[in-house]
Amino acid sequence: MDQMTPLISSTEIARAVDRLAAEIDDSLGGTSLVVIGVLKGSFIFLSDLVRRMNTPVRSIEFIRVSSYEASTVSSGKPKVTLEIKKDVVKDADVLIVEDIVDTGATTSAVFDYVEAFDPSSVKIVTFLNKPARRRVTLQPDYVGLTVPDEFVVGYGMDFDQRYRDLPAIYTLRRQ
Ligand code: IMP
Ligand code: MG
Repeated sequence: MDQMTPLISSTEIARAVDRLAAEIDDSLGGTSLVVIGVLKGSFIFLSDLVRRMNTPVRSIEFIRVSSYEASTVSSGKPKVTLEIKKDVVKDADVLIVEDIVDTGATTSAVFDYVEAFDPSSVKIVTFLNKPARRRVTLQPDYVGLTVPDEFVVGYGMDFDQRYRDLPAIYTLRRQ
């Protein structure tokens, strides 16, 4: 049995998304963005965020990075497994959208991948930040909420592919 404890309600999620959208509009409002979601975890946050932002979005892309599989701890170096076309990113203002930055390894691999395509700028927005476990120096430009060192599920985030559909966020402990 998995033990789930409520951590962030859907009301708090909506408030954080609104605040992030306003922050992004304030700092990037003049630009037309290429938004890149990191699959699968960011798909719900990305769809909420782009609908709350007023900043023009030129294109929405997805990238996939090898993940944790059936474990709550990260394994090895992440690999990009779904690529995007270089001409979409070249000279573009890019916004990378993450569900959660934990050790920082995944986001850092995505950042390096995008940078190699010569964009004009790259910003990172993450819905959750778990700074206690950071192994790679990486500070997201926009952070929704900071969470403690617990494994969380819901609002796009999974354990072994389950719980992504939950509208609120829970901590999960294996019994
Ligand atoms: P990192 O490479 O350790 O920063 O982990 C990044 C990825 O691992 C995130 O994009 C998530 O998909 C996944 N992840 C990290 N922590 C959690 C968690 O607490 N719950 C669910 N997924 C997580
Ligand atoms: Mg992810």
